[in-house]
Amino acid sequence: PAFFKPIHSTAPPSLTKRQTKISVIGTGNVGMAIAQTILTQDLADELALVDANPDKLRGEMLDLQHAAAFLPRTKINASVDYAVTVASDLCIVTAGARQIAGESRLNLLQRNVALFKNIVPPLVKYSPDAILLIVSNPVDVLTYVAWKLSGFPSNRVIGSGTNLDSSRFRFLIADHLDVNAQDVQAFIVGEHGDSSVALWSSISVGGVPILSFLEKHQIGYEKETLEKIHKEVIDGAYEVICLKGYTSWAIGYSVANLARSLLRDQRKIHPVSVLAKGFYGIEGGNVFLSLPAQLGRGGVLGVTNVHLTDEEAERLRNSAKTILEMQSQLDI
Ligand code: NAI
Ligand code: LAC
Repeated sequence: PAFFKPIHSTAPPSLTKRQTKISVIGTGNVGMAIAQTILTQDLADELALVDANPDKLRGEMLDLQHAAAFLPRTKINASVDYAVTVASDLCIVTAGARQIAGESRLNLLQRNVALFKNIVPPLVKYSPDAILLIVSNPVDVLTYVAWKLSGFPSNRVIGSGTNLDSSRFRFLIADHLDVNAQDVQAFIVGEHGDSSVALWSSISVGGVPILSFLEKHQIGYEKETLEKIHKEVIDGAYEVICLKGYTSWAIGYSVANLARSLLRDQRKIHPVSVLAKGFYGIEGGNVFLSLPAQLGRGGVLGVTNVHLTDEEAERLRNSAKTILEMQSQLDI
């Protein structure tokens, strides 16, 4: 007998909310940071977890389920069988090897491309209408690989890209100016990696373009200071990896931030890895790299036209060349 005497056994169809389902592939440091942030921020009605390691996978599922009393109700399932991901709205891929101390993201490439050939086809089979959000590194090339393997339109294949780098950038600028990072708007674009491009002209603090903000507040700055902050962003991940072996918390919040914009149709602009060919003079092949893109329930709704200086545009095209060179070695 049911615990409760039902009053309305089912809600009328008009009141039955469409259930939102997110699948996270790879339940390692990053996948679990993302999963717990999705639960804490109540971003899905159902969370499906997939990993190649069945014991780790079941352990992580049980550990999250045991937190149910402290979290919004979310159905949590896990399996090594991709059928568990059926009818996902968003599939977040974090599976793969991570950098060893000092190793560049691009060096990871061949190891993770092979994995994607086993991961992407079943995701497509079970969720042909999903948005794919790629996190595994090198994220820009692997987003391209996921796009090719999936056959999805490019608006539904997105890489987390420099959303994380831009968050680090905003933190460092906010720290330098002693303001709240949420009042700092700043974009890093291009490769999520060593050739990323800081858009100085995009930086504003409380809506005031930074260069005039600094002049207005007589805060001395040289170009070197801004370049130093960008270098700290690039070096940031390597430093954390050397210290704790991996990065996880910032990427967890970064990806949840993207998931919210996508699934709640926020139409916010994020620097994420998109099919960049044809923008800002980027030619030479289909390349994914980060540009300021509007995100909503349909995935990438558009790429914004921000002003780039000639130097920034040149750096962006060089970033594209770096990625295309790596892609040219792939057999997909
Ligand atoms: P991890 O080693 O902790 O987790 C990787 C997980 O993938 C493991 O649980 C492993 O069992 C699983 N896995 C491996 N092959 C699989 C397969 N074929 N199918 C399903 N699962 C499989 O690594 P971590 O620290 O979570 O990093 C994961 C990836 O995320 C790495 O490539 C790392 O570089 C990347 N990353 C990307 C960031 C970004 O900003 N784009 C930031 C931080 C990490
Ligand atoms: C990071 C690396 C791991 O930016 O991609 O955290």
